[in-house]
Amino acid sequence: MSVLVTEASEYHSKDFNWETLRQEIENDPSLNYHLLPFPSPQQEEQHSRDSIKAWQNFHIQHSSGKFFKERRYLLKEFPELVSCEDGCKVLEVGCGNGSTALPILRGNEKIILYACDCSNETLERAKEFVAASNVVSVEHRFHPFCCDFVTTGFPKWLTCDYCREMFALKGQNYLSDVREKRTHETDICCVGGVDFITLIFTLSAVPLQTMPTAIRECFSVLKPGGLLLFRDYGLYDMTMLRFEPEQRVGFREYMRSDGTRSYFFSLDVVRNLFICAGFIELEIEYCCVKSVNRQNGKSMRRVWVHAYGDRFLLIRISTD
Ligand SMILES: C[S@@+](CC[C@H](N)C(=O)[O-])C[C@H]1O[C@@H](n2cnc3c(N)ncnc32)[C@H](O)[C@@H]1O
Repeated sequence: MSVLVTEASEYHSKDFNWETLRQEIENDPSLNYHLLPFPSPQQEEQHSRDSIKAWQNFHIQHSSGKFFKERRYLLKEFPELVSCEDGCKVLEVGCGNGSTALPILRGNEKIILYACDCSNETLERAKEFVAASNVVSVEHRFHPFCCDFVTTGFPKWLTCDYCREMFALKGQNYLSDVREKRTHETDICCVGGVDFITLIFTLSAVPLQTMPTAIRECFSVLKPGGLLLFRDYGLYDMTMLRFEPEQRVGFREYMRSDGTRSYFFSLDVVRNLFICAGFIELEIEYCCVKSVNRQNGKSMRRVWVHAYGDRFLLIRISTD
């Protein structure tokens, strides 16, 4: 069994068997509506606009910025972030109030962290939380910016067209000669792509139809050899089973009363989405954790998707 020790308690990733859970859910007539096929959904563009607005409103409603708790376990799940080199660049996509950004900045003083979200409101909270954190030289290492990475993509200052092209052409070997050419042959000034992307509970927040575009965009700003670290809701997580039939907006896709969405991933869906964008799978698995609701004492079965032991880790390689 894979075990992580968090600050507060022991953290088990295999408290129960996912296959047993699947059989139980799929044989329960009262949950049958979760399994039904879904008629063809709205237009992609409309989906995206509505989803962004819903998230922007969500952050205005929760303006204290305390909705998402700091993910203190993160560096234990992704130790690559601890051991990476000086000046290593990380892009946290859909950063919210900084719940993932902060532990990364805290855990490795050498990391430069770019963090984006579609909501200016939540970016302001993230800046405040990071500034108040007393993390070493954080003012030089934390670069928040507003963008809808699905519709408009990441800004050119992060990865210009030239770099994107070179990443695609040169693959693993780009590092030595592309940088040289960029300074010698062009005036384009950009950050030059990133070494890591963290996609932590963000992909499930975008409409399913737009996920292929979203992942391709991540792929194109990641340096060859870089890693994408992913963690998100898994199929038959307890929170999925709580959705009512009328909250379904797609197959395994649901909308909360505030208009924000949540998708629940099977391993196959994650695998297909990332592989189609050009990623290579290192490891992928369900993380099944039993936790107890403090208020009513009830046991809850949580399912997340990740890989590489207790992590979900994908590597980007050459496309040629
Ligand atoms: C569930 S939160 C996850 C926050 C954070 N990554 C974490 O680890 O807690 C999802 C975040 O994605 C943001 N988001 C949703 N769609 C987005 C988009 N298209 N572009 C940028 N951010 C988006 C939301 O505003 C929200 O802050």
